[in-house]
Amino acid sequence: MSPDETTHASRKLEHLRINLQENVQFRQSNGLERYRFVHQALPEINQNEISLATTFFGKPLRAPILISSMTGGAYEAERINLALATAAQTTGVAMGLGSQRAAIENDALAYTYQVRRVAPDILLFANLGAIQLNYTYTIDECRRAVEMIRADALILHLNAIQEAVQAGGNTNWKGLLQKIEQVCRALDVPVIGKEVGFGISEDAARQLASAGVAALDIAGAGGTSWAAVEAYRAPSSFLRELAEAFWDWGIPTAESLIRARRGAPNLPLIASGGIRDGVQAAQCIALGAGLVGYASPMLRLADRGVEDVIAGIKMVEEQMRTAMFGIGAENLDALKNTKHLEKV
Ligand SMILES: Cc1cc2nc3c(=O)[nH]c(=O)nc-3n(C[C@H](O)[C@H](O)[C@H](O)COP(=O)(O)O)c2cc1C
Repeated sequence: MSPDETTHASRKLEHLRINLQENVQFRQSNGLERYRFVHQALPEINQNEISLATTFFGKPLRAPILISSMTGGAYEAERINLALATAAQTTGVAMGLGSQRAAIENDALAYTYQVRRVAPDILLFANLGAIQLNYTYTIDECRRAVEMIRADALILHLNAIQEAVQAGGNTNWKGLLQKIEQVCRALDVPVIGKEVGFGISEDAARQLASAGVAALDIAGAGGTSWAAVEAYRAPSSFLRELAEAFWDWGIPTAESLIRARRGAPNLPLIASGGIRDGVQAAQCIALGAGLVGYASPMLRLADRGVEDVIAGIKMVEEQMRTAMFGIGAENLDALKNTKHLEKV
C-alpha cells in the first residue's frame, strides 16, 4: 500500500477505536426534548395491527430504520459490516456503508465493504466524501463506489467542519455544488446529500435540492460529534484545542429536520444524529422524516455480534410501535400526519 492508502485504512480503524472507547457524544441535545407526543387515552386502534412498513427509493422496508454509514477499509471493519448487514437483511431495514475512499485508492480493500452476499435484498447506500470531487475524484470514482457494493444509491457526505479541524483536511470547498450536480446528472442511481453530525440548514437543503439530489440525510447535532473524534485524534495541542471548540457545533437534529423541510419541501428526508430510541424515531417521522438513521448505537451492538444488532433493531421497532399506539397512529402515514406532536 502507498502511504496515502495506509492513511485511509488506519484512519478508519482509529475512528472505530475512538468511537467505541471514548465519549464523543455532543454535550448539546438533539432538540427532540422540545417536542412531545400528546398521549391519547383512547387510541381506538389494535396495537397488533400497527404497521411500520414503508418504501424508500421504491424499495420495500419492514421498518423506516437505517443503519447509518460507518465503516469499511480495514479487516476489523469487515466483521462489523457483515454483522450490520446480516441484521439488516434479517429485519428488513436499510444500511449505508462507510466512506469507500480506502477501497477506491486500494482495490484489495473492497471486500471489507462487500456485504451483498449476506444482504442480497436490503436497501444499500454507497458512501464517498463529496469534497473528494474537488480533489481529483470524478464521476468515475462515484460509479465505482456504487458498483463495488451493488448499491441502490450513493451518499455524498458533507463534513466541512471535520475537515477543517483535522491535520491536512480538505478545505477548498469552492465550486463543489456544481460538481455534485454533475454527479447527480450522470449516475444511474439516486444521490443522497448527507451531513455527518453538524446538520443541514435551509439554504444548504435548497442548494442540494437544486443540484438534483434525490434525498437528504440531515445528520444533525446531538449524537456523535466528529469534532470530538478529531480532538481525540489531534496530533498537536493546537489542533486539539481547535477541534474542542467545535465539539458542540451544529444544528440540532430536530431543528435541522424542520429547516431542511423548508429548504427542500419535496425531498425525502432521513433523520440521524443522536437518535437513541424508537420514541425519538417516531418523533422524527412525525416531524417529516421518511427514514431514521442510527450510527453509534449500531456500532456498539455490532461489536458484540449479529444477535445483539437484531435485538437492538427489534427494540427500536417495538418502541416505535408503542409510541404509535399511544397516539392512535396505525401506520407511518398516520404518524407522519399526526396532530398529536406538540412543541413544549
Ligand atoms: C464510527 C463511525 C464512522 C462514521 N463514518 C461515516 C462515514 O464514513 N460516512 C458518513 O457519511 N458518515 C459517517 N458517520 C456518521 C454517521 O453516519 C451519522 O451521520 C452520525 O454519526 C450521527 O449518528 P449517531 O449520532 O447515531 O452516531 C460515522 C459515524 C460513526 C459513529
